[in-house]
Amino acid sequence: MPGKLIDGIEQASKITESVKNEVSLLQKQGIKPRLAVVLAGENAASKLYVEKKRQACEKAGVAFELVKFPETVKEEVVLEAIIKLNKDAQVNAILVQLPLPKGISQERVLNEVFPLKDVDGFTSANLGMLAYGNEQLVACTAKGIVKLIESTGTKIEGKNACIVNHSVVVGKPLSLMLLNRNATVTVCHEFTKDLAFQTRQADILVTAVGKPGLVKAGMVKKGAIVIDAGIAKKDGKTLGDADFEAVKKDASFITPVPGGVGPMTVACLLENTVLAAKLQRKG
Ligand code: GUN
Repeated sequence: MPGKLIDGIEQASKITESVKNEVSLLQKQGIKPRLAVVLAGENAASKLYVEKKRQACEKAGVAFELVKFPETVKEEVVLEAIIKLNKDAQVNAILVQLPLPKGISQERVLNEVFPLKDVDGFTSANLGMLAYGNEQLVACTAKGIVKLIESTGTKIEGKNACIVNHSVVVGKPLSLMLLNRNATVTVCHEFTKDLAFQTRQADILVTAVGKPGLVKAGMVKKGAIVIDAGIAKKDGKTLGDADFEAVKKDASFITPVPGGVGPMTVACLLENTVLAAKLQRKG
């Protein structure tokens, strides 16, 4: 039997509905969750992602502001903008859209965000807490992927998980989240010697590379859950990393691209924004 589809759009809209309810409860207490997005440069994909985030905020009743800089912006100017947003009591959540223009230190900029406003979970403080098993503000794509796996009813504990991505955005936080749930985690990347050998061991396979056709027939264990977080454009179509029709034959569950991980990332950002507003209320 071919793998069942995991519907990211449906899961994400459930989260958005629940965020909407939480936002109206917070508003009754005089709190209006507000997300500030810092966008530096002219990356077309980044602009599109930011627009999706703005639309999602509008849907959920979350206030949204965009702080935009040209490609030539100096690191100090971005840092100053973040310091200002940190101090602004009306702003509960800050997200710095990646990638940043060349010459700007991603680590320095991301670490300037006040950890309780860090809805991307990219600060050293939040990544460190995650390593300790304290999942407060965790990276949205990793969080969304874990929710998609859990939506299948599969227990993560004791499973072999293989992640093809070792970035701070996806692979590192996801590996920690799966370790926190007692999976046996293998993290692969472009220097991995035999990718197919590693992916074939996986009960849960997550790929987030942006290379269509990377995961082919014969690379997936029978009955595996396949989560495809890869995004690439080809002939006007959005494609994931997995050769969908071939891989579906062996998988028990599989996410489509588009309509899988993408909507979950945005929904988890809304969830983190409300969580950040609540954390700041606690002080
Ligand atoms: N660029 C690609 N993915 C992401 C993400 O999850 N967060 C941010 N801030 N930038 C990204």
